[in-house]
Amino acid sequence: MGCRVCGGNLQKFIDFGRQPVSNAFVDPADLTGEVFYDLAMGQCSTCTMVQQLNEVPRDVMFHSGYPYRSSESRLIREHFERTALEFLDGQLGSRTPFVVEIGCNDGVMLETLRRQGVRHLGVDPSAGAAEVARERGSEVRVDFFDEASAAAIRFEKGPADLIFSANTISHLAYFDSVLKGVDVLLAPDGVLVFEDRYLGDIVERTAFDQIYDEHYYLLSARSMRATADRFGFELVDAVRLPVHGGSLRYTLARPGTREVRASVQELLADEERQGLGDIATLRRFADTAEHVCQDLVGLLRDLRADGRSIAGYGATSKSATILNHCGIGPDLIPYICDSTQVKQHLVTPGSHIPVRPPEVFADPYPEYAVLFAWNHEKEIMAKERQFAEQGGKWILYVPGVHIV
Ligand code: SAH
Ligand code: TYD
Ligand code: ZN
Repeated sequence: MGCRVCGGNLQKFIDFGRQPVSNAFVDPADLTGEVFYDLAMGQCSTCTMVQQLNEVPRDVMFHSGYPYRSSESRLIREHFERTALEFLDGQLGSRTPFVVEIGCNDGVMLETLRRQGVRHLGVDPSAGAAEVARERGSEVRVDFFDEASAAAIRFEKGPADLIFSANTISHLAYFDSVLKGVDVLLAPDGVLVFEDRYLGDIVERTAFDQIYDEHYYLLSARSMRATADRFGFELVDAVRLPVHGGSLRYTLARPGTREVRASVQELLADEERQGLGDIATLRRFADTAEHVCQDLVGLLRDLRADGRSIAGYGATSKSATILNHCGIGPDLIPYICDSTQVKQHLVTPGSHIPVRPPEVFADPYPEYAVLFAWNHEKEIMAKERQFAEQGGKWILYVPGVHIV
């Protein structure tokens, strides 16, 4: 199979073998229906886009029972409130805008627009999350954004001044259809602004658990510029963000309609220095990832052999990769605490570790806790300050295994 963006040749650099659908938490009473796929990634030798070699059908990942809820994190809520206010102050200041959000989830970003009376539409196929957004008062179309749904939205609502998306564009293997949809829906001088985990940060910090079914592409300024060019857009801005362990916010516009910010060239130069377009860099990343995996399993086995108690914190989708690839199950980590109600009392996909409410964490505290939601380190460590104060130790594995 060739590159999903340009048809070029894909060079494989990492292979995690058979993996479960990462957000498919399971009812322990019925473990029969789990879906598995082969998780491997390659880089296009033409446009440098990093992508998976196999695709999980979109409706297997995103459906009414999809359990991810953006609003579980206070810092993420604040991040999106700030984002929305920046839009209202900046790009959208001078008009009565229509804003479309691809992948609005529980309405975490739309909430601010709605309160300011901005005409908006969220698009998200996960009806359970979308229902939460609706209850909060946002307008949502339960659907996959693609060329067809974009045309329907354009027909019903007119052109969009801003199409925003966070942590979703990289999930959409059918990038061609998505960008054709953006082309249909976007006003002539409108912009597509989206943010996603950044390949540069993933490689720099060996955050290999960012690789799982939903993250079909790992984007960079270079691969996004090539993709934008191919589909009749121009990459006019690229800004690094601290969220989710390192993200990048891209702005695409129709060619010549916006000034290209210096940040684009600067980032392209940084990526060149980092060797981000070289397959050798990605192969080194894969080797380091394997060492981190072995270090983590070694540490957990030693601690258990010493009779230490261990729990997990954050039943993330990321953890599916590390748990299943390293063969970590309830024997090493008997439970994982997580604040998301719809995940509680289920078990993790493939590895079958029970998910428990956060109240269980202190009852009694384990001696060690593996922080699977390491991207929320600050927030969770502050919330669970008492754990460390009474002698508990956090185990982290990004950028390498270490105990805090
Ligand atoms: N924007 C939120 C949610 C990210 S999770 C945040 O940053 O926290 C990804 C979301 O994308 C899920 O809610 C999923 O249902 C949605 N999604 C998946 N495919 C989509 C598509 N084709 N169009 C719109 N949303 C999609
Ligand atoms: P996250 O890292 O945002 O995403 P992903 O699933 O894409 O890897 O998931 C964070 C998880 O951690 C989520 O299930 C909610 C949980 N969580 C808590 O339990 N407590 C907290 O204070 C925070 C911030 C998150
Ligand atoms: Zn390509």
